[in-house]
Amino acid sequence: MDASYDLIVNSPGRINIIGEHTDYNNGFVLPTAIDKKIQFKFRKNNSDKNCLVKSVDFDTQFSFDLLEISKSETQWENYILGVVYEIQQLTSNLKGFDCVFKSEIPIGSGISSSAALECGLAFGLNELFDLKLTKLQIVELSQRAEHNYVGTKCGIMDQYASVMSKEGHVILLDCQSLEATYVPMNIAPYKLLLLNTNVSHNLASGEYNTRRQQCESGVAIIQKKYPAVQSLRDVSMEMLSEFKLDLSTVVFDRCSYVVQEKERTLNAVEALKNNDLKELGALMYQTHDGLQHLYEVSCKELDFLVDFSKKYEQVLGARVMGGGFGGCSINLIHETAVAQFTAEVSKAYFEEFEIKLTAFEAMPCEGTSIEK
Ligand code: GLA
Repeated sequence: MDASYDLIVNSPGRINIIGEHTDYNNGFVLPTAIDKKIQFKFRKNNSDKNCLVKSVDFDTQFSFDLLEISKSETQWENYILGVVYEIQQLTSNLKGFDCVFKSEIPIGSGISSSAALECGLAFGLNELFDLKLTKLQIVELSQRAEHNYVGTKCGIMDQYASVMSKEGHVILLDCQSLEATYVPMNIAPYKLLLLNTNVSHNLASGEYNTRRQQCESGVAIIQKKYPAVQSLRDVSMEMLSEFKLDLSTVVFDRCSYVVQEKERTLNAVEALKNNDLKELGALMYQTHDGLQHLYEVSCKELDFLVDFSKKYEQVLGARVMGGGFGGCSINLIHETAVAQFTAEVSKAYFEEFEIKLTAFEAMPCEGTSIEK
């Protein structure tokens, strides 16, 4: 450890096995942190209000005054400023600090470098100044930072997974009650292989927030007849089908996907517990289909990868992961097929798009932690 820093924090990215775009609809998700992380170093700088934050990867830094926090024109700075602002809404014990961070999480790849950045900063400042925030407060304030400073109206999955994960487990998170069940991820001889398209199409704020609004507009219409309905969590396919003529085709499709995905996620957990990996894989393929055709958050590069994987019986399932519009596909694949499949899919992908694919395996890891 660099002797001039007091504290080192590791903050991981996450994967999600299934349950996509369900978190902000109060449904279920099945994520876990992985062994790709952002590492932060912190020190108090003995000033009351001057802060300096440095990104090693971008070779850039900025300073700010704790008494004058406001949004920046530079987007990455808003992740930092947003977290500091939200901490200040909860405590006045923050003082001047220096922070430097270095990331191994590719940006825009759907494994949530954003949540890792927000939560790692919040976690570190909590330790450094003994702010006495709980882990759940760190998760929730980081999510608010993303809403209020970055502008993406994200759900809670990414921040929750980054902070709360346990090695060897995925988290079945009920995004309505925030009740978490840790499910052992015993899938040997299968592996989770991530294929990064290395494209990232306009997810931030725009299309993501539109999806959220479309779901909410569906709920508003359903509520007129069923006032007890608070979110798509409370809606079944039977109920939804009563509104086919009242909802636009787009809103109906968005809601159908979410209602189906809610069910699918619970079925996937049963399959995982029963070690029925064929079923788990089949459900992942169904999720991709829904995200491609009903929710429309896939893209041609991801569709290509998922279609390609269907040619291999050793790949039990594959789908777009995270917000969509690029980033990674997640594949459930037999360990003996990883090398050959990776070589063949990379070659085919390059021939089609002239873009290099990046492949890596992921396993469930511990959430945000202090490096001893
Ligand atoms: C992004 C958001 C999450 C979640 C996923 C889609 O990663 O940050 O809250 O909505 O998209 O499942």
